[in-house]
Amino acid sequence: MSGVLAGKRILVTGVVTDASIAFHVARIAQEEGAEVVLTGFGRLSLIERIAARLPKPAPVIELDVTDQAHLDTLAERVREHVDGLDGVVHSVAYGPQGAFSFLDGDWADVSTAVQVSAYSLKSLTTACLPLMEGRGGSVVGLTFDATVAWPHYDWMGVAKAALESTSRYLARDLGDRGIRCNLVAAGPLRSMAAKSIPGFQELAEVWRHRAPIGWDLVDPDPAARGVVALLSDFFPRTTGEIVHVDGGVHMTGA
Ligand SMILES: NC(=O)c1ccc[n+]([C@@H]2O[C@H](COP(=O)([O-])OP(=O)(O)OC[C@H]3O[C@@H](n4cnc5c(N)ncnc54)[C@H](O)[C@@H]3O)[C@@H](O)[C@H]2O)c1
Repeated sequence: MSGVLAGKRILVTGVVTDASIAFHVARIAQEEGAEVVLTGFGRLSLIERIAARLPKPAPVIELDVTDQAHLDTLAERVREHVDGLDGVVHSVAYGPQGAFSFLDGDWADVSTAVQVSAYSLKSLTTACLPLMEGRGGSVVGLTFDATVAWPHYDWMGVAKAALESTSRYLARDLGDRGIRCNLVAAGPLRSMAAKSIPGFQELAEVWRHRAPIGWDLVDPDPAARGVVALLSDFFPRTTGEIVHVDGGVHMTGA
């Protein structure tokens, strides 16, 4: 099979609906020749139904990134389907409602947001290391530009800043094993996660006016293609990088 991911085995976390960025990563990865294994959080039978809409069948493995038993057994459960991994996609984020209120957010809310959305990049990657040992690989996650303060995003913005830093430290520590770690900073997309962000519409308005090359809130394809590109061999010496797939909004002043 031809394609930029021909022959690659990719683990994709974060599919919950067919609006999930991860669903489109999995779809494009398969179209580009990859063998895809999914992980699902909680609603496994729902996720299996969504997975059935992919071009090719993909097994779904249970993974709650906060559950150490799930992480400890992840490699052996992935090995039931593929004999190793060339790529891992982190497409996981969660913040309790309290995390979207900066001055009121308490530590329980904030620590959950940071554990699920940032620390999990480290836990997922180290859980997958035995599957990438000796051959290198590419880890790709998704962020929402954390270099600035956004309306409403609040402690999720802090969690994304932690994710961006975590990605750089992973890139530092895994480079000598041939493992790259990069992020795509996507513009706003109407996924299930987005629905839980109060004031998402206000953020979305910014994109309507400021994206020089345009931005479609219901098209996850550009962000997913960015992830697939970073999984491919076309960024062989790029690591610790954040690629903006946001219609250009990050570089506009007003
Ligand atoms: N939608 C946007 O506007 C947007 C923009 C930039 C970045 N992102 C990022 O893209 C990624 C995917 O989000 P999405 O927009 O596709 O939404 P989504 O709701 O489809 O995906 C979020 C996923 O996180 C999973 N998850 C939550 N808690 C988990 C846990 N404890 N263990 C394992 N998985 C867990 C959910 O099951 C879900 O599949 C997230 O990191 C999000 O922050 C989204």
